[in-house]
Amino acid sequence: MDLSCMRKEYKGDEESFEESQLVSLDPIKQFGNWFDEAAKCPEISEPNAMCIATATKDGRPSARMVLLKGYSNEGFRFFTNYKSRKGSELDSNPYASLVFYWEPLHRQIRIEGDVERLPTEASIEYFHSRPKSSQIGAVVSRQSTPVPNRDYLRQKNAELEEKYKDTEVPMPDYWGGYVVKPYLIEFWQGQTVRLHDRIVFTKQKDGEPELGEFQHAAEGGWVYQRLSP
Ligand SMILES: Cc1cc2nc3c(=O)[nH]c(=O)nc-3n(C[C@H](O)[C@H](O)[C@H](O)COP(=O)(O)O)c2cc1C
Repeated sequence: MDLSCMRKEYKGDEESFEESQLVSLDPIKQFGNWFDEAAKCPEISEPNAMCIATATKDGRPSARMVLLKGYSNEGFRFFTNYKSRKGSELDSNPYASLVFYWEPLHRQIRIEGDVERLPTEASIEYFHSRPKSSQIGAVVSRQSTPVPNRDYLRQKNAELEEKYKDTEVPMPDYWGGYVVKPYLIEFWQGQTVRLHDRIVFTKQKDGEPELGEFQHAAEGGWVYQRLSP
């Protein structure tokens, strides 16, 4: 199947994303501003869906979607099975790359960072805030391991529903949250004339010279620059 002619013509006037339009020189606040706009956009049903790429120790990447469950100056949080494929890749190579794409807004955000497990108490708190069916689902699913068939999962689910019908589901020790602590956040705004805007913030490392060529000071130990699209 040749898809070479498949391309979207962006309609409307060019509306460039000037640095002066950054609501904040703090990239976390800028993320929050774009996230809020995505959350208000009726055509975006899951604004917190993001692609997360991890890699094995020898650098072979794998990517999948997860849901962002919170963000702050500390980083971007999501929950999963620690023994899943992504979990074991993060055990041996604790770095990840996140991508949000909000098509109706022609916006992409890329985030790269170090990954750490959330404290167990934070995972337990979130686990019990989920509907019981999701809690049972987390116990049923030894995520990323082979199973004989769908009936096997159905039966296990029914057994656990019965087992926990009057009691709380304990959080399995193989389940919990991660925080991606960003050292790079890039904002991409698609434009009609394909001169797309890219503003990338990077965390300044200790001892790094003040500012590189085309770099500008931002807030909270970040610097930013414009990249060619
Ligand atoms: C929109 C969407 C949201 C998802 N959210 C999560 C999530 O928050 N946590 C999770 O473990 N898997 C989530 N999944 C399933 C993952 O994409 C993936 O199948 C699973 O985590 C196993 O990935 P792994 O084998 O690479 O570890 C989601 C899938 C989709 C399509």
